Amino acid sequence: MKDIHVCRIIGQSEVAPRIVRALLKGPKIAREAQPGQFVNVQVGKTTDPLLRRPFSVHAAYPDEGVYSILYAVRGRGTTLLSEMRPGDELSVIGPLGTPFDLGESSDSRHILVAGGCGAAPLHFLCDALCRKWGCDNVTVLAGAQSKDAVVCEAEFRANGVNVIVSTDDGSHGFHGLATQLLETHLSKCISQTPGSHVRVYSCGPHMMLKQVAQICREAGVARCQVSLETVMACGVGVCLGCVQKVRGDSGTSYKRVCVDGPVFDAEEIVWD
Ligand SMILES: Cc1cc2nc3c(=O)[nH]c(=O)nc-3n(C[C@H](O)[C@H](O)[C@H](O)COP(=O)(O)OP(=O)(O)OC[C@H]3O[C@@H](n4cnc5c(N)ncnc54)[C@H](O)[C@@H]3O)c2cc1C
Ligand code: FES
Repeated sequence: MKDIHVCRIIGQSEVAPRIVRALLKGPKIAREAQPGQFVNVQVGKTTDPLLRRPFSVHAAYPDEGVYSILYAVRGRGTTLLSEMRPGDELSVIGPLGTPFDLGESSDSRHILVAGGCGAAPLHFLCDALCRKWGCDNVTVLAGAQSKDAVVCEAEFRANGVNVIVSTDDGSHGFHGLATQLLETHLSKCISQTPGSHVRVYSCGPHMMLKQVAQICREAGVARCQVSLETVMACGVGVCLGCVQKVRGDSGTSYKRVCVDGPVFDAEEIVWD
């Protein structure tokens, strides 16, 4: 069983309408978290709501002992969380789950595909990829519904990576979907680098991830990893409330997103 940490809120700010970044004091989580892992947060001061809410680690600053999460205010839990103030304390379990695999080859090109708040774990991943392989090898494709819903664009750009933005309504960047950006970018990329040197990482709505997986398969990329956001209950592998159908050597089976994921190889997922 993972430790429960008491994490003080240092600050919360709305970075886009109904999207909040929270900075939390938590030295052990900041030290141990890897890109793709998540924390399970008790969002209220009482046991109501009972279930913790999972959020990807968005950034970690081990030297300062702080880390951040980036969340969309959706329902009761995230509304309660957004109302908490600096100095309030949260009960947090984590870091949990499997991280992204950053690869072993310096020849690889890394493409990150974010849908809306799916940028949350990819920001942390982008930092790690830049440190490991250099920012020149990293491209971020970030899709959102409209200009004001684009998150982390400035942060990605500050890293020095290539960033291409799309919006569904055309109010900023390319008018269309992040998956269209991926198709275009992949064909350009593969004309210069073999598909076997291209690695794709994605987080966002389930339908988007399904399409990302298909595009990557057709383009023959080396590896496509997706971070899934299923509804969770216990968060630690006990309740089976988060299972995802997967395929393996002996046919299909189910895996728990909380402990076997949330990051999966896209080829393993049985997309429905
Ligand atoms: C591993 C993991 C990492 C996640 N990371 C992030 C993150 O970094 N940022 C972020 O904004 N969200 C993230 N989520 C989703 C987040 O946990 C849910 O949005 C949150 O639990 C909703 O809580 P609520 O009480 O506000 O909503 P509820 O009142 O419980 O539900 C409100 C609405 O949100 C939907 N919802 C509930 N749980 C989820 C879920 N797990 N995924 C998608 N929709 C859900 C419900 O279907 C409903 O429509 C993550 C989920 C997982 C499993
Ligand atoms: S949330 Fe309980 S097993 Fe995954």
